[in-house]
Amino acid sequence: MRIAVLPGDGIGVEVVAEGRKVLERVAEGFGRRFEFTEALVGWAAVDGTGTALPDETARICRESDAIYFGAVGDPARDATLPPRERPEPVALLGLRKGLYANLRPAILNPALVDVCPLRPEIVKDGVDVLIVRELTGGLYYGKPKGPTEHDGVRGAVDTMVYTVPEIERIARVAFEAARKRKKRLCSVDKANILACSQLWREVVTGVAKDYPDVALTHLYVDNAAMQLIRNPGSFDVIVTENTFGDILSDEASMLAGSMGLLPSACLGDGDVTPFYEPIHGSAPDIAGKGIANPIAAILTAAMMLRHSFNLGREADAIESAVDQVLKAGHRTADIVSPGGSRISTSEMGSRITERIAVA
Ligand code: IPM
Ligand code: MG
Repeated sequence: MRIAVLPGDGIGVEVVAEGRKVLERVAEGFGRRFEFTEALVGWAAVDGTGTALPDETARICRESDAIYFGAVGDPARDATLPPRERPEPVALLGLRKGLYANLRPAILNPALVDVCPLRPEIVKDGVDVLIVRELTGGLYYGKPKGPTEHDGVRGAVDTMVYTVPEIERIARVAFEAARKRKKRLCSVDKANILACSQLWREVVTGVAKDYPDVALTHLYVDNAAMQLIRNPGSFDVIVTENTFGDILSDEASMLAGSMGLLPSACLGDGDVTPFYEPIHGSAPDIAGKGIANPIAAILTAAMMLRHSFNLGREADAIESAVDQVLKAGHRTADIVSPGGSRISTSEMGSRITERIAVA
């Protein structure tokens, strides 16, 4: 099991170190062999090699079975490179190429009900939403893209494009996921205005015929954003296009209590190496202080074990260790209750590591 480890920038470095600690414990406890190869990415790579995704890193990723990624980006340095050469488009979008299905589960841990900004009566039935975000289409990649100038007036253009096969394959991923859960799928679009969304709705409705056991509903994205806050318990699986999924998954992270808790998996079906990352970014404002929450990165490691290596028991052991640590009241700064005490990034990682129950 070859794992490319790409810590990247900001808190990526700190949280990936904790995830690795947990993985090493799993390897030892369950008798598994993970072969880790660290590689440069993001500004860390720009400094050493001049590019955010060096050839060497791309090669290591290609030759690995999974990529375990931290975060990239540093707004303070953005002005030093043209937008197209910055880490977000070069490294992140580069490594995600071909990985069209972005799974972003948002679960409210019962121990964190007091940290969730929603009132307890709104989340009393629990929150367990899986956002299936289309990751390789839409506004992020559509052409034309970039600055424009007509008759001396400057502007800019991004293009939303979707094809039927692109919608069909992500819809299938979402229906399959719903089948393994509560069998409810909500497709989110803006079909009252956008042509892409009208096609989206038509195609998703067509795919639904192959999944008669899954209840499909449709919501406009503005309404979905509102319903997520009003009645989060009504959602099981959400499927949506790239930009809507980006926005709704940040919103959903607050249902869980903090951005620092949400893992994600980027999956394709070709021979592109699957990519696993916490949904949070590099958070330069808190980087290097030892206060970042490593739980998103640690749960991301669990997703990697489950999806890339079929190690369900090991993934369960990690998730259960996280549950126990939260239940015991250990908190990083982002999830601390008023008056509670906080522990550092590495203390949190160590406590979770200690609680991995071995087979
Ligand atoms: C995310 C991030 C990225 C995205 C940015 C950093 C390009 O917000 O993973 O959600 O928009 O996909
Ligand atoms: Mg985002």
